[in-house]
Amino acid sequence: MRCLLVVLALGLAAGCSRGQSREAPDGKPSPTLRLAVVTDLKGYLEPCGCTSRPLGGIDRLAAQIRALRGSSVPLVVLMAGDLFFDTDALEPTRVDQANRNASTLLEILDRLEVDVALPGRRDRAQPREQIARLQTASEFPWLAMKKGDTEVVRIKAGGLRVAVVGARPGAERDVVMAAVGTAQAKTDLTIALVYGSRRDANRIGAIDGVDFVVHGGLDQDAPVPPHRAGDAWVLHAGRQGQGLTVIDVYRKTDEAFTDLSDWSRKERIRQLDAQITDLSGKISEWERSEVDPADLRAQSDRLAELKTQREALNGPPPSTQGNAFDAKWVELPKEAPTDEEVTRLMREHDKAVNQANREAFADLAPRALGPDDIAYVGSAACGTCHNPAYVWWQSHPHGHAYLTLQTRNKEFNLDCVGCHVTGYDQPGGSTVTHNLDGALVNVGCESCHGPGAAHTENPEIGMVADAPESTCLPCHNEEHSDQFDYDTYRKTLIVPGHGLPPAQP
Ligand code: HEC
Ligand code: HEC
Ligand code: HEC
Ligand code: HEC
Repeated sequence: MRCLLVVLALGLAAGCSRGQSREAPDGKPSPTLRLAVVTDLKGYLEPCGCTSRPLGGIDRLAAQIRALRGSSVPLVVLMAGDLFFDTDALEPTRVDQANRNASTLLEILDRLEVDVALPGRRDRAQPREQIARLQTASEFPWLAMKKGDTEVVRIKAGGLRVAVVGARPGAERDVVMAAVGTAQAKTDLTIALVYGSRRDANRIGAIDGVDFVVHGGLDQDAPVPPHRAGDAWVLHAGRQGQGLTVIDVYRKTDEAFTDLSDWSRKERIRQLDAQITDLSGKISEWERSEVDPADLRAQSDRLAELKTQREALNGPPPSTQGNAFDAKWVELPKEAPTDEEVTRLMREHDKAVNQANREAFADLAPRALGPDDIAYVGSAACGTCHNPAYVWWQSHPHGHAYLTLQTRNKEFNLDCVGCHVTGYDQPGGSTVTHNLDGALVNVGCESCHGPGAAHTENPEIGMVADAPESTCLPCHNEEHSDQFDYDTYRKTLIVPGHGLPPAQP
């Protein structure tokens, strides 16, 4: 059952409960409450699949949330940061696809029974009617959409009364403080959702009465373990749905929370070990040079102190006597389970986008040739004279880059097609729908050697013989080719028949 009440400023708590069993099979105390936190989803339904280790997929996220819901511990799902869009201003040609994407994402989030979200700057930057349509369709409340708004959402989860306050960058601290003050009445746990810099998050965390801050808008891949701001703990969960942060909350008193997480402990150990190694190295260097003995002693004392801190972390983890929490990062690699129902929605979405773009861009012809431009002809035309090279290329990944998209119903997807075809958006090249009847699909010869109409007509007109790194980088960028190293990759292209004499039969 969903149980929510949005109240502006002064609020009343709604009464309903998700059941409250406290038994854990392994004898460990069961958490009072669990938080599932997702930040900066940015409209990602799934990773493109280009990189060596793709992370994310809303169907994988769904499987995790469904599993958490299945447990006896009451769950609250919180989202903060750019949720539906990853750019402020969409190119006009991209608007339809991005809106379809946002609608599919919303449908899925509704099914996951997200409790409350604080969208980000990029969501708010979309045209008003577009974003209003999404917000109206949403089954969960969106916080701080209007300037100056500081709503409080009250959630009853298990036996706990949770208040969630939203704050956007530059929100007046006293307005947020007032909201927190209001929220705190008859509340067991106060959570602030914040969009902005680390400083913004810390500033809100320092407000008296805030227990947790969920921080969106950080624009960073790797999630960071919780860190302290005032009496509150700031939570973050990376971006693009690559994973989620799960917090087990043990609430017993009214005091500030202690962090029991192995995640934080390991991170702290890593930092201390690095500091100790660094300082030890420096000290032995100083011992060999003329450094003031007093300075040297001070540094040695500091080293001893770091070692003591490090030693303390070897002990048993702190107990759950008072208020405490245990945070973990759940990464979503390819092997993570998927939610079938959500996967089905994603696949339907891919087909719908493909079909819509195919129709919408049916008349999108390639850019016209300027006086100095040369048209593209496609790899098969090169094959008539460079047969060994052509045969090699057909079996290379470049030679079936389009099939990679077709098997996923993504060949008309504007997020994908550009790097998996030849001469995209070039004069006399290709568009999302036009590719010389298939001659320009795949990453063809002309992607590296340049457009070849003139040379094909008359081979005495030369081609670009080599392909410098700058030719590769528009496609082999950090986001889509994380292992790319020019020399290593280029070497694999120089084979008998292509760049080397053909093998003798
Ligand atoms: C138009 C975009 C584009 C350009 C330009 C491009 N590539 Fe690629 N490259 C791709 C795509 C897409 C794939 C993956 C194809 C597939 O498997 O679907 C790929 C795959 C590869 C692979 C195979 C990697 C593997 O996992 O086996 C190599 C090697 C490679 N590219 C090298 C290069 C080099 C070197 C350059 C520059 C000289 C270059 N590429 C230029 C798009 C491009
Ligand atoms: C900026 C260019 C670019 C865009 C945009 C792009 N790709 Fe790729 N893609 C590549 C490159 C480059 C590779 C090869 C990476 C490598 O091996 O280093 C690749 C590889 C892949 C692979 C792995 C192929 C294999 O068989 O191993 C898949 C799958 C893929 N892309 C799908 C997609 C999808 C789906 C989209 C759209 C959501 C997309 N790509 C958008 C450049 C791009
Ligand atoms: C991913 C980029 C890429 C693709 C795609 C590609 N080539 Fe090349 N090609 C190169 C590189 C790099 C060399 C090596 C140049 C050198 O050794 O100086 C080369 C060398 C050659 C050479 C020999 C040039 C010389 O003078 O040694 C020919 C001919 C050639 N390619 C034709 C083709 C044909 C035809 C195709 C398509 C069937 C093709 N290439 C596809 C990058 C590419
Ligand atoms: C009518 C035959 C013919 C066609 C078609 C043809 N080439 Fe060539 N190409 C040649 C000849 C001949 C040479 C020069 C001799 C050699 O080294 O092979 C050459 C040379 C090259 C070179 C070496 C660099 C240079 O200019 O000397 C590259 C690269 C190349 N061709 C790429 C291509 C590509 C890419 C296509 C398709 C767009 C293509 N060729 C189509 C005949 C052809």
